[in-house]
Amino acid sequence: MKNLGLGILLAAASLAAHAQCTFPASASSAYDPAMSAIHLPWRTDLPGTPGTPVFAWQEVRFESSWRDYMAAFLEEIRASGIRIDQRRLTMNPKAEWWIVPWMDYSLNGRERLNGLTAERGPDRGDLSKTSGDNIQTWAVGWYNRPGAYAIGEIFKNPCNPQIPATFAFPAQSASFKFLFTTADVEQVSYLEGSPEIDAYINPKDDPHGERDGVDGRTPRPMRLLQVDIAVKDPNAKDTGWVMGTFVWRKPANPKAFKGDWLLDNLVPVGLMWGNDPGELDPAWNKTTAISQSQINQELRGVVWAASEADWPQRPYPGFQGRLNGPADNPRSSCLACHAAAQWRRDQPLVDSFKLDKSFSEEKVRAHVSKFFMNTQGGIRHSGSKVGNPLDYSLQLEAAFDRICRACSDQKLQAKTPDICKVPQVRNRGTIVTRDTCEASPAVNFLKLFIKPEALSETPNPRQ
Ligand code: HEC
Repeated sequence: MKNLGLGILLAAASLAAHAQCTFPASASSAYDPAMSAIHLPWRTDLPGTPGTPVFAWQEVRFESSWRDYMAAFLEEIRASGIRIDQRRLTMNPKAEWWIVPWMDYSLNGRERLNGLTAERGPDRGDLSKTSGDNIQTWAVGWYNRPGAYAIGEIFKNPCNPQIPATFAFPAQSASFKFLFTTADVEQVSYLEGSPEIDAYINPKDDPHGERDGVDGRTPRPMRLLQVDIAVKDPNAKDTGWVMGTFVWRKPANPKAFKGDWLLDNLVPVGLMWGNDPGELDPAWNKTTAISQSQINQELRGVVWAASEADWPQRPYPGFQGRLNGPADNPRSSCLACHAAAQWRRDQPLVDSFKLDKSFSEEKVRAHVSKFFMNTQGGIRHSGSKVGNPLDYSLQLEAAFDRICRACSDQKLQAKTPDICKVPQVRNRGTIVTRDTCEASPAVNFLKLFIKPEALSETPNPRQ
């Protein structure tokens, strides 16, 4: 069943009630009208077994050798044959890396050339001290065999995905993600020479696609900004996960450079396996004694500020010295955001305050105790009272959100998937209470009077 969740489908599955559903390719955000099809170069044939693969990082202990651990992961990325060909990202067709189904719907949904999804647009001053507003960041990520197998189990009945009561990825599940940006080299000097692709994204004057929607997307050049990695590693006792990120940097002597321009110039920013709960400095813009994130200090002054006066908006990569990448919010950390993955979402990924003089000691304390705890992936985040944990997978959460949106919009023709009936928490997400996605004429008539906000897009996921 190729292209599952990417437009076309399907008449599979055993349960009679949910055995059939249709989602026309043309409703997908990755649909290419010129070819009357979706043609992303990624694997969607989720594997039926986890297999027994051995990965290069398994021989390395991250606490003592974090750079070696990241280098080992990079070797696995290299083995996938990932490269840019004719300004599009591609991989060896048989490489054992799969994309998550159902991310190709809505304003943030996969674009048609590389399958990128829209990410948080960085705030002014996030990427560099001179970076401005309206920068777009888009990304595509893959799961390895154990991870893709677990996802396949959830989507076994593609018309009615099911989350086990305690969902957990198998050991050595892993994911990596390439992030691209429209920021230009004048504003963000470390992007100079960075590999370019073309992607079908929102126009410059409508960065969130709010005006013209998916139809308003146009092909635009983007540069590689960041590569994220995540591993479910049994040695990460506190959280179960190790997460890291690289930035692309031009080599010192480009003319003499021999090698793979895309992968050999990726420089590790850092690796983390816990959130250092309780560690804080009363002053919001100071780094504190962090032991569960390792940061590459050579990037100080490039990806975050060398001195307070120099670049006040980004005093550290993630909050007070925890790990985050340049595309990410300095108020948070990789693991803090991902720990909140659940269906349905309860706690916000991160509060939307600004870090500045108004951020008092009291706020620092409240922020650290709310966001920087160490949570096991299959256990509900202690900030949440309801919901099924998704073991740090925010792509699964995004996929669920889009299925329910497609059902609510009557683009998906099916029995209403069970996940869409789960009551929403704090007004987030789309809930469909009727039995079928297709509404009766009476409901459709009533919909004419529903306030548009009730059906509008949720904000970009990676806030
Ligand atoms: C503020 C929230 C936030 C922060 C911080 C964040 N992410 Fe994510 N991440 C997301 C969301 C939302 C998604 C899913 C949507 C997408 O992929 O576009 C995601 C997806 C991913 C994925 C794909 C796997 C999956 O299903 O979640 C990986 C790998 C990943 N992030 C790694 C990282 C790393 C490494 C860092 C830190 C350098 C990081 N993330 C920081 C929100 C965040």
